[in-house]
Amino acid sequence: TKRIGILTSGGDCPGLNAAIRGVARAAYDRMEGVEIIGIADGYSGLIKGDYRVMDKSEFSGILTLGGTILGTARTPFKDMRKIGDDNVDKVSSMMKNYEKMGLDCLCTLGGNGTHKTANLLSEEGLNVIGLPKTIDNDLWGTDVTFGFHTAVDIATDVIDRVHTTAASHGRVMVVELMGNKAGWLTIYSGVAGGADVVVIPEIPYDRETVIEAVRKRAERGKAFSIVAIAEGAVRNDEVDLKRKEIREKRSAEGFTSVSARLAHAIEATTGIETRVVVPGHIQRGGSPSAYDRVLSTKFGVQAAELIYQKKFGYTVALQKGRLTENKLSDVAGKTKLVTLDSDIVRAARNIGICLGD
Ligand code: F6P
Repeated sequence: TKRIGILTSGGDCPGLNAAIRGVARAAYDRMEGVEIIGIADGYSGLIKGDYRVMDKSEFSGILTLGGTILGTARTPFKDMRKIGDDNVDKVSSMMKNYEKMGLDCLCTLGGNGTHKTANLLSEEGLNVIGLPKTIDNDLWGTDVTFGFHTAVDIATDVIDRVHTTAASHGRVMVVELMGNKAGWLTIYSGVAGGADVVVIPEIPYDRETVIEAVRKRAERGKAFSIVAIAEGAVRNDEVDLKRKEIREKRSAEGFTSVSARLAHAIEATTGIETRVVVPGHIQRGGSPSAYDRVLSTKFGVQAAELIYQKKFGYTVALQKGRLTENKLSDVAGKTKLVTLDSDIVRAARNIGICLGD
């Protein structure tokens, strides 16, 4: 028998179930006598030994389902070597449970944190295969992660809806989108939704530049403006501060978020009524888009192919539109951020979107 363990770790996103289904179906199809072991709640289930042999039927009817049927958790990488209740560190527990489950390999579906741990386990000698999931799209070595495009679709819909009400009232709407370090979601949905200003963590912003863009539109007769800002956007005069310090400084000023503070400044300076919209976890909820269903399926099938070939220590990826794989050791610890010379930044600038710098 081939025993394949599978877990989903980190923040959930649409497409996880489609990817799980892809791995399972292709594995059953490609290899004789496969057994899939579902591990609950990411690495925490592997640490605790919370797992079960799954029935083939469980992979049916989940293609369009949001979230993850396995459950997920954030298990901080820095805690991995810490001693747990049972007096062993978490890595040793995971190694022991891998043995106990009799696994031939472990499939880990997740983002940057997940891949760091996957690489650690691979370096410890386990057979690990990764799949790139995150709405942030910030995993190194792949053009795109699954979950990203669904989040872009949702965020674009939010911006579209905010647009009509902003136009009706002649207001500024500041839409805060997810992304602490990476601005992919904000810049893609900002461009797709026709935002007037897009502020991302990779390009520190000047408050005056943003306000000036809003004012200029008002002078041209456009009474409303849409500002799309990533939750992790940083002001130019605060780039030297740690994130925690920025948060503390902001809350001392009476603001709980980057969007609330910017909205206040816009309204106070321009006199234009300004509202804040924070779609939050709606961006990660619900059914995957058609694009993500296909991408997740392709990634799942590719992962099963690597298992079949016994090519462990890799994570699947898409490069220039083709499926491929990267070494876990090459991906772990890196982040793929929006670069100033990227096509999307160039496109945004060339159509006159203000990037706040
Ligand atoms: O990594 C995905 C993400 O949605 C980020 O965009 C966001 O900053 C974070 O997760 C939110 O974390 P939590 O899952 O703890 O709400």
